[in-house]
Order: sequence, then C-alpha cells, then structure tokens
Amino acid sequence: MAKITAGIRAESGPDVLVDSSFFDDGCVYRLDDAKAIVQTVDFFPPVVNDSYTFGAIAAANALSDIYAMGAKPLFALNIVSFPSSRIPMEVLSEILRGGKEKTEEAGIQILGGHTIDDIEPKYGLVVTGTVHPDRIVRNRGVSSGDVLILTKPLGTGIITTALKFNQCPSEVEKKAVQVMSSLNRTACEQMLTVDVTAATDVTGYGLVGHLFEMINNSKLSCRLYFEKLPVIEGVKELVEKGQVPGGTRRNLEYFGKFCDFNGLKEWQKIVVADAQTSGGLLIALPDCQADVLINKMKTEGLESSVIGIITEQRDSLIEFGR
Ligand code: CO
Ligand code: CO
Repeated sequence: MAKITAGIRAESGPDVLVDSSFFDDGCVYRLDDAKAIVQTVDFFPPVVNDSYTFGAIAAANALSDIYAMGAKPLFALNIVSFPSSRIPMEVLSEILRGGKEKTEEAGIQILGGHTIDDIEPKYGLVVTGTVHPDRIVRNRGVSSGDVLILTKPLGTGIITTALKFNQCPSEVEKKAVQVMSSLNRTACEQMLTVDVTAATDVTGYGLVGHLFEMINNSKLSCRLYFEKLPVIEGVKELVEKGQVPGGTRRNLEYFGKFCDFNGLKEWQKIVVADAQTSGGLLIALPDCQADVLINKMKTEGLESSVIGIITEQRDSLIEFGR
C-alpha cells in the first residue's frame, strides 16, 4: 500500500502539517495560526455478526485516528457499500444506527455520506476534526527513556477471526465487542494533560507494526515487557486452536524481522503482531509522567500500565524482556 500511495502523494505546501509520509493516523492542514483541520477515513467489512454493533465499532475505529492525533472531532460522513439485492435494507439501517449513536457519544453528527452497491457490505466514516497547529500528536518523535502505555487490551483480530468460524466463546466475544466499540476519546483527553511525545492507535499492523512506525529510522530501539501487555482473556486458547487472521501472520512475518523475541512463545508472538480493529492508543511519554497519566486514566475507568520503554539503539528495533 505504501508503494502505491507514494506515487500519488502531492507536493506538500506550507500549510500541510502532516501528510501520509510517516503513516500518521490522519492528515493535518493549517487554516490559521490557531487552527488546523485533521481528516481521516476508514471503512471495512463486518467484524461481528450483529449489524448495529458492527456500525458502532466501525465508527469508533474511524474516530480513533482523530483521537490518536490529539484532535477533537467536528463531524463525519458515512461511507457505505451494500448488496441491496441480497441483504434486507433493515440490516443497513441497523449498521447506520450503530454508527450514528457512536458518533453522538463522541459529541458529533454525521452530516452526509455516500452509498454504493457492492458484493459485500462495508461501512466506515470520513471524520473531520480540529487541532491547534502546535499541539498535534504525531506517531513519531520519541526520545530514549520515554515509556509506552497502551489503553486497550490486544487480541481483537484473533477473536473476530474465531467469531467468523463460530469458534468464539460468548464471554470472549462480549469482551472484544466492548473493547472495539469503546471510544478512544477519554484516552485522548487524558494524554493531552501530560507531555505526550508520540501516539498512534493500534490497528491493522498490530502492536509491533505500529511501534515499528514510531521508532523506525529514529536511531532508537524499544524494549517491551510481554507480561505487562494487556491481552483479552481467552485469546491464548483461540490462538492455540489456530484462530489466527492472515493479516496477523503477515504482520509477524514482516515486523518479526525487526524483533528479538527473546524466547517468547509462539502464541505470544501472534498476539503482539495481531491486527487489531479499533484498538487502543499507544502513547509515548516521559517516564516521570507515566504514573500521573496511569492514575488519571484509572480515575476515568481506563486500565493501563507501562508496557515498554524507548532505549538507545540496540541490535534489534524491538526487543522483548523484563
Ligand atoms: Co490509526
Ligand atoms: Co485508520
């Protein structure tokens, strides 16, 4: 994908503050000294069986890129493909209702959109937000000694794959739905109260992939503590039953080359590479502010902990250890 988009990238003018060069979560365009707009788009096929829930998850996922940039959403547009001759229109209205209610929870409205006929349903949003040009949170810019915090547990790719094959226990499904449909709004608001150095949301490239984007070419490395990583309960068992998405395997194959797994078990490697849907924010910040942020998040009902630390450059970009 990177190769394809590189060819169509525009020459950036002075008001283009963030484009796709470094895989940031959205683009940022300056309007004046105090205001810039942030925009992002995301859509995908159903990840759960319930239409309403799918709509809500797709909306939470699209909004997440705005929050990852430290921005505030303003409004959204629907993007829909739907096989109207094959699936009853009530299914579509449920998907749209899920999206609508999730955006309302985020305090914004969906002001329009576009629908096409397609073989498979897909749904998502274009979201426009706003940010102060000096307060953009990028996915790069970390320093040695910064620590990493992750605000949602891992494993949603594995779980949604298991769901597709009717192999997912209902309590595991329930937890994953709750994780995927929850907004990263609070996590964003809280990270903006500390001196965050970089942030991104963990989605298709998995934890190691998004971490790779954060530190690649920075002359730094990172150490991750597997035992500190939040993982949805039941994920280990699903991996052992072979419920691994193709995207996760490809992530592991590619990003695994930059990792020293240090004896991590096979299921653990799968988890750290698992392609997430609507994952949490991966936040880098100075060590001395980590406790403050973790406590603030806790007050807001968000469980988080330090999952790793940025180090001076080592043999591997990402090293697992204690
Ligand atoms: Co993103
Ligand atoms: Co995205």
